[in-house]
Amino acid sequence: MYRTHTCGELRISDKGKKVTLAGWVQKSRKLGGMTFIDLRDRYGITQLVVEADAPADLVETATSLGREFVIQAVGEVVERQSKNPKMPTGDVEIRLEGIHILNKSVTPPFTIEDESDGGDDLRMKYRYLDLRRGPLKRALELRHRIAHEVRNYLDANGFLEIETPYLIKSTPEGARDFVVPSRMNPNQFYALPQSPQTFKQLLMVAGYDRYFQIVRCFRDEDLRADRQPEFTQIDCEMSFVEQDDVLNVFEGMMRTLFKNVLDVEIPNPLPRMSWFDAMDRYGSDKPDVRFGMEIHEITDVAKGKGFGVLDGASYIGAIAVPGAAEYTRKQIDELTEWVKRPQVGAKGLIYIRVNADGSFKSSIDKFYGPEDLARIAAAAEAKAGDLVLVLSGDAKRKVQTMLGVLRLEMGGRLGLRDPKVFAPLWIVDFPLLEWDDETQRFYAMHHPFTSPKPEHMELFYSNRKEDLERVCANAYDFVLNGNELGGGSIRIHNSEVQKRMFEVLGIGPEEADYKFGFIINAFKFGAPPHGGLAFGFDRVCALFGGQDTIRDYIAFPKNNQGRDVMIDAPSAIDQIQLDELFLDLRKPE
Ligand code: AMO
Repeated sequence: MYRTHTCGELRISDKGKKVTLAGWVQKSRKLGGMTFIDLRDRYGITQLVVEADAPADLVETATSLGREFVIQAVGEVVERQSKNPKMPTGDVEIRLEGIHILNKSVTPPFTIEDESDGGDDLRMKYRYLDLRRGPLKRALELRHRIAHEVRNYLDANGFLEIETPYLIKSTPEGARDFVVPSRMNPNQFYALPQSPQTFKQLLMVAGYDRYFQIVRCFRDEDLRADRQPEFTQIDCEMSFVEQDDVLNVFEGMMRTLFKNVLDVEIPNPLPRMSWFDAMDRYGSDKPDVRFGMEIHEITDVAKGKGFGVLDGASYIGAIAVPGAAEYTRKQIDELTEWVKRPQVGAKGLIYIRVNADGSFKSSIDKFYGPEDLARIAAAAEAKAGDLVLVLSGDAKRKVQTMLGVLRLEMGGRLGLRDPKVFAPLWIVDFPLLEWDDETQRFYAMHHPFTSPKPEHMELFYSNRKEDLERVCANAYDFVLNGNELGGGSIRIHNSEVQKRMFEVLGIGPEEADYKFGFIINAFKFGAPPHGGLAFGFDRVCALFGGQDTIRDYIAFPKNNQGRDVMIDAPSAIDQIQLDELFLDLRKPE
């Protein structure tokens, strides 16, 4: 037997026991003839001690141990002279009678402790060493725990976990596909699923009325802190449901997760906000509602004073930053540069200081008297001591989005975005379609299987752009602290409506048939009304862990260039493989 106990297990109540532990040497040190060793495994760290008067060979082996050696240690649990209250095993140590080196280790490239000295790249290259560290271990434990709770909840609610294939035909989720060449079908390619969307709908046609899957999805898109090219969804679908049924079941799931994993109570029922409200008030379809600082439209009160920038704008919006009237000129200049960065894209920033004594100081004093500024401040709901920040432009949503980004930045600077505070909500009533000026066509805001609201069916069959822009969908997102954790919709289950959707999206009958014939066809065989959603599992884990980067909640993630630097992928393949696949390579220009 390799071990009787783990390294996280022994307590003072075990005093006197003969035990065998196995693990990695975190560090060892000599003190007054004695050798102390911190032995680590997945469960914790236990201190081992070799007394000065121990047999010479034992002392010698103990002294020879290097960092990360794998050893088996036999000894007796004794009470520690100087206890360590920070460690669960800190009351005891093991007085060693024998050490067996199971394997040596070369010196690791960084220290394997909670605070490592290794840089990002190095830790990614040696991910298996990084994974030995406490923070990553705790992240993966949390991930496991959440997956377990999800399965319990969905099982208790009658959901069946069913796997769907990875080698499929493109699914339209809006990103690029990863493709896989087929040796047996020369010049033909599978696509890896961006989500199991079409398959879960086919499962509804097949009668499996409550499906779920914790499933890998693949999207070839630009990476960000909350995006990986392969990531995991908690993917779900239900039949014979309306929007409320779906929201209730999954709000219940999130409530259970919050309660069982974090011991946090979330509101019951959760707030719901329409997409239009979210855009108007927060400049985002994933508003962070942990703090106020809402956007106010001030177009009418701010126009007409002869200031060209505002007079020429079709939308003017403002936020009131609490207590920021004391911002210095330098700080405001820095903020102005900040909003001009391409990531925000504003041309400039107008400010109004609402001083504590009720007076005003603004960057537009030349055009606006105290009464004018007071009116703007009132419209922005600013209080004495606040700093009003104003942006304007031609396109309302664009300006609102910029104000939304600025609002988040100011919320962050004021410490209003505490990761231990959770403010979940549903965003509902999304527009069905999004017009793209560049390509002069509509795109599905969620995906092409999302159903128009029944009351908007007439608009949906109109051929006028203005009408189609007004069609809303039974689509919803689960939003937490400014992050989109999940999204879904009630689906189209009628092949005629589905055909119309493809038509609106400019997908001709031939293309629709080539790409989605299987689902249009399936709908002819008695498709039940259905709907569902998918949560980004990695994002759920990260936010539960208090982080907004998902990388450390995935055992083997890709870096920002989409590379796995540990195994060095992607990489070239050899000529034999290329020949088998009938592939010729072209040099990138
Ligand atoms: P959607 O595309 O909104 O919907 O994806 C659902 C959720 O998946 C997460 N997510 C990601 N997480 C990490 N890395 C990525 N690259 C990434 N992309 C998306 C997000 C998102 O909310 N089939 C539909 C769902 C449905 O309609 O049922 C879908 O995939 O948290």
